[in-house]
Amino acid sequence: MAPALNASGYALLLSIIVLQLSMFASCTESVIQPKLQKLFGTAQTAAAQTKLLAMLDMAINIPKLKFEILSYRIPEMDEPGAADFAKALISMAAAGADCSPEWIAAVRKYFVLNVANITTKLPNVWGKRQAFPALRRMVFAQLVKSWLTRMQRQLPQHLEDELQQMFLELYEAHRVVATRKGIMEYFHISKAGGSSWCHAAKNNGCRAQIYEASFVCQIKQFDDNVRWLNGSFHRGLTGRYTRWGTWGRAIRRHTNFTTCTQRHEFAALMGYQYFSNEYTLHEGFDDPENVGICPQFFNVIIIRNPRKRLLSHLKFVIFQMKWDYEDDKLFNRTYWGTDSRFWDKFGPVLVDNYMLRGMLGEKVYHAPIGSLGAPEVARACAILQQYDLVIDLEEGHDVVDQVMELGVGWPHTLREIHDKDSAKAGAWLNLNYGDYLPRDLDYLYDRQKLDMELYIFGRVLVRLDALLLSVVKSLGAKPLPWLDFDRLHGNPHATLCGLLRLGPRLPNSTEERWMPNEFQSRVNAEMQAARQAGVVAAAERAARGDAWRALALARMSDRAQ
Ligand SMILES: *[C@@H]1O[C@H](CO)[C@@H](O)[C@H](O)[C@H]1NC(C)=O
Ligand SMILES: *[C@@H]1O[C@H](CO)[C@@H](O)[C@H](O)[C@H]1NC(C)=O
Ligand SMILES: *[C@@H]1O[C@H](CO)[C@@H](O)[C@H](O)[C@H]1NC(C)=O
Ligand SMILES: *[C@@H]1O[C@H](CO)[C@@H](O)[C@H](O)[C@H]1NC(C)=O
Ligand SMILES: *[C@@H]1O[C@H](CO)[C@@H](O)[C@H](O)[C@H]1NC(C)=O
Repeated sequence: MAPALNASGYALLLSIIVLQLSMFASCTESVIQPKLQKLFGTAQTAAAQTKLLAMLDMAINIPKLKFEILSYRIPEMDEPGAADFAKALISMAAAGADCSPEWIAAVRKYFVLNVANITTKLPNVWGKRQAFPALRRMVFAQLVKSWLTRMQRQLPQHLEDELQQMFLELYEAHRVVATRKGIMEYFHISKAGGSSWCHAAKNNGCRAQIYEASFVCQIKQFDDNVRWLNGSFHRGLTGRYTRWGTWGRAIRRHTNFTTCTQRHEFAALMGYQYFSNEYTLHEGFDDPENVGICPQFFNVIIIRNPRKRLLSHLKFVIFQMKWDYEDDKLFNRTYWGTDSRFWDKFGPVLVDNYMLRGMLGEKVYHAPIGSLGAPEVARACAILQQYDLVIDLEEGHDVVDQVMELGVGWPHTLREIHDKDSAKAGAWLNLNYGDYLPRDLDYLYDRQKLDMELYIFGRVLVRLDALLLSVVKSLGAKPLPWLDFDRLHGNPHATLCGLLRLGPRLPNSTEERWMPNEFQSRVNAEMQAARQAGVVAAAERAARGDAWRALALARMSDRAQ
């Protein structure tokens, strides 16, 4: 039984409710200030703050590069009105009016007029397939910069409502454009979580050409394979062929789909929703300044601390060579006691700023050691800012989960996946990595300085995105508002690739509705061929795996005796 209230009890209750209602009406609770504080308020030292401000300035200035260095490739800046919008933001900032009510109004107007108004329905098919991520991050960098400086880390209360609306509209642009694009190109920086990402695509029900055990997820016809090693050097040393051995040679992909338009048309016609590219970015064949992402796709990248990437990469190659040789003496003779000079010849791209090389196209990928510098860092940062999603593998699962759930509508996150473990793999092959890693590893770590600059900048972009996503999450935004997202948990088939669920659509399609996703269950000839080849390769690997396991067991029982 509920306790009965007497008359004065009711009066008290009523007045409490009225009081609460009136407080609620007169001031919206601040959602943005605590997030700003959490994400950007913790730079303890003056030096850290200076570095952060420098990175924010870089993000603010990247759209401007497009009208200062015309050859730069920033497709969103070619959209009508984009350059004027960027110029208006820059001049407001110069006048100390960034984050003013006029500034907020200008941002909201640009995104709502160009991309989408907030709706809980399916987005219309006709709209732009451009969410302006570089401009969006410029906007957020201006906001954070003025919060750190002019506002002295306290967001004025009177801006809260309008800013909240602006956050929701920028998220809406992202969400709607993801759905309109319908195909993800994931740029797989080797040894930065790429196979886990592909595995996640499978767990979220995306359609790819093939999912096999190593989770590479490429479209075979695109030839997006790695070219890590100098095969001639290896042959000279060992007399053997090596996998991945075309560094410095194949300067053009072996494919009929070289341009972004061709790549998009092929992927769309096949109905693929997901693929990975582990080689390098696109176009700019003769002019590396004009290399970039293909704006037709929903572009995702995972970055990782370059030193960790390097170590993991070296271990992986060493492991694979031991496995491939099936000859312990040859293996030991080739890799024992090596140093950076050996790796400079054998795997130049691995040990000299691999992230930049991947992002800057085939010319730079195959350029000699030591030939990259500040201009390459600047170009790679400009490309990074254009990604629809940037994920940092070093962030904890909570941050990554949030990006995956709100950013792609994937409830099945990396948290669920544990694909590769070099320690386990090494134990299995009786391999002690320490004996075979270059003796001057520290020198090689130092040489990743350029990649490190890109990475530090990338981490700031990740925090700008986290600001957007954590605020809209608090405001109740959902990736698929017309569905009960929570109910998709545990059901990859229901997820249907999250925001990409409506599948690809050709640019010249005249259908008024979304193309019925007839591809969903059809297995085309390309998929069939890739899958058959996958089964054969898996059987071979399994047979050799059995042999190795038997050997390992024999070794263990030898030791036990
Ligand atoms: C959003 O709504 C406004 C006002 O109704 C309209 O002018 C604008 O075109 C809409 N934006 C889009 C992208 O449909
Ligand atoms: C690859 O190694 C061979 C043999 O050491 C060398 O002659 C060749 O120049 C190397 N290739 C490149 C692109 O550096
Ligand atoms: C390119 O297309 C031709 C004609 O269809 C085909 O014979 C050839 O194998 C294709 N090349 C590649 C690399 O797929
Ligand atoms: C590898 O070679 C080095 C140098 O010749 C030798 O000292 C070492 O014992 C060898 N290790 C194995 C596992 O054969
Ligand atoms: C779109 O254009 C391509 C050629 O660029 C053509 O092959 C295709 O049939 C067209 N699709 C539609 C739906 O019109």
